[in-house]
Amino acid sequence: MKPGFSAKWQSLQSGFSDWLRHWLFSTDSGVAVLPPLEEMMRYSLEGGKHFRPVLYLLCLESLGQAALHGRRGALAIEAVHAYSLIHDDLPCMDDDDLRRGRPSCHAKFGEAQAVLAGDALLTLAFELLGGEPAEVAGGMAQELARAAGAAGMVGGQLLDLQATGQGGGAQKLEEIHRRKTGALISSCFSLAGLRARLPQSEVEKLRRFGLQLGLIFQVQDDILDETGDPALHGKSPGKDRSQGKLTYPMLLGLAGAREHLDRLLSEARRELAGLPLEARELSLVLDFLRERQN
Ligand code: IPE
Ligand code: IPE
Ligand code: MG
Ligand code: MG
Ligand code: MG
Repeated sequence: MKPGFSAKWQSLQSGFSDWLRHWLFSTDSGVAVLPPLEEMMRYSLEGGKHFRPVLYLLCLESLGQAALHGRRGALAIEAVHAYSLIHDDLPCMDDDDLRRGRPSCHAKFGEAQAVLAGDALLTLAFELLGGEPAEVAGGMAQELARAAGAAGMVGGQLLDLQATGQGGGAQKLEEIHRRKTGALISSCFSLAGLRARLPQSEVEKLRRFGLQLGLIFQVQDDILDETGDPALHGKSPGKDRSQGKLTYPMLLGLAGAREHLDRLLSEARRELAGLPLEARELSLVLDFLRERQN
């Protein structure tokens, strides 16, 4: 078994793929999409690890909720993620033609089309959350908007662009990671807490742990940019260094980046016992984050 991919993880992942393929764009979901946009949206929603929505479903199940209650939230989270990758790859951003071992959205469909597919995915996320039960829908929409927006991912992406070619220290880099990647991964935990109607103090605990996981995720992403096997990684190798991105391998060297990763992982392991979630499954997720190759 691959680390982090327990039987439970695999079954949630396959359920999620099913909703993506058969429910999201069907009349059952109530979502209305023009066919050319549907093609681009499907292209960008499929082919990834679906790490974030499965994490959300795992948390939700651990909080005693049926996975089906997580369908809209999980798809909303992945829609925001898919949009962020489309825009991240654009020529005016990271200028990347390769994603998941195939042409990135703009390389396949054209630049203007890709901008619109991204816009459609971002708005789709909130259309989906609008269908959550009334007592949680508003809070969930606010939580996802904060994670994705100006103080979260969008803000982090701007800081990332500003630091490109400029460098910066550890504090700046951690802030970039916290916002551009940490915020959305953190929301997988906090959204599960909100959906399960946990008290605010418990939601806050989940939000904090999720942020730690997000930092771990992006440090490994930076390391894989330099070390990833192109056949498994599916992204252009060495892109960060050639573009002068501020990353942990740039700042600390590869060995230093790996030490930093292990430090973050140990901190996360120490937090596991204090969470209202099943520690064994999360511990496997941490193993996966350390060993992942894509
Ligand atoms: C890549 O995310 C973008 C980052 C925030 C580092 P993933 O590694 O989850 O990408 P996919 O969706 O599995 O391709
Ligand atoms: C992306 O970070 C973070 C996002 C918000 C999309 P990267 O630019 O390092 O992601 P990859 O390596 O292109 O997937
Ligand atoms: Mg980027
Ligand atoms: Mg990029
Ligand atoms: Mg990267």
